[in-house]
Amino acid sequence: MNPRNEDLPRHVAIIMDGNGRWARSRGLPRYAGHRAGVDAVRRTVEAAGDAGIEFMTLYAFSADNWKRPREEISGIMRLLDRYLQSETQRLVEEGVRVTVVGRRDRLRPRTRGLIERTEEATRGGTRMRLRVAIDYSARETIIRAAKLAEGREVTHEEFAELMACAMHCEPDYPAIDLLIRTSGEMRLSDFFLWESAYAELYFTDTLWPDFEAKDLQAAIDEYARRERRFGEAHSPRLVSIR
Ligand code: FPP
Repeated sequence: MNPRNEDLPRHVAIIMDGNGRWARSRGLPRYAGHRAGVDAVRRTVEAAGDAGIEFMTLYAFSADNWKRPREEISGIMRLLDRYLQSETQRLVEEGVRVTVVGRRDRLRPRTRGLIERTEEATRGGTRMRLRVAIDYSARETIIRAAKLAEGREVTHEEFAELMACAMHCEPDYPAIDLLIRTSGEMRLSDFFLWESAYAELYFTDTLWPDFEAKDLQAAIDEYARRERRFGEAHSPRLVSIR
């Protein structure tokens, strides 16, 4: 097996933002922005696979997104359903294994069924893992994991496993290496707070529906230029010589 290219992030996560502004700038309803956002999801998943990314996490719907108007919520849910329905076969062919992380009890039975169907159908995928966060809250996940720990002293690794049990996600998902947020906003918005502890953060003004393979590549290139230290001292090559 070839050695891993350390310049390539193993796990890329994206906070997809700017659908509403994209639509507004064209005089279109917000739904049109979300619909264009789904096309960007398709492009980005394909580009990530081609770039050799092993794990990808996308923030499709946060627990706080329930505060949006009912009509917008049902529009997003419809798009998610349609994505799961129309994309599953292609994901199987491309070797992408899909899982969904987040609460399921507040989703419509139809959406829950489609999620289970896609997870089952793509289970054999080995080229890339795609995790979609729906009705997800990092803080809620941490609280649930803390309850599962029942006051025991646990290591970071054990706690990460408890969090995986708490929110339907797989324990073998690695920490996030590169976290991208589009549309110029610079916050984490309750997205994988624990798993982003040492993530490199990358913010771009590009609105999510405009995001393309070249934007993903720009983020990966920037990642390759960063020095990841995980709390250690600077490596000698970066210490300035007086
Ligand atoms: C943020 O833009 C976007 C969302 C809350 C929804 C994201 C959903 C999709 C891209 C579609 C479904 C996803 C998948 C995985 C198929 P915003 O509405 O907050 O934009 P704004 O800040 O410009 O108003």
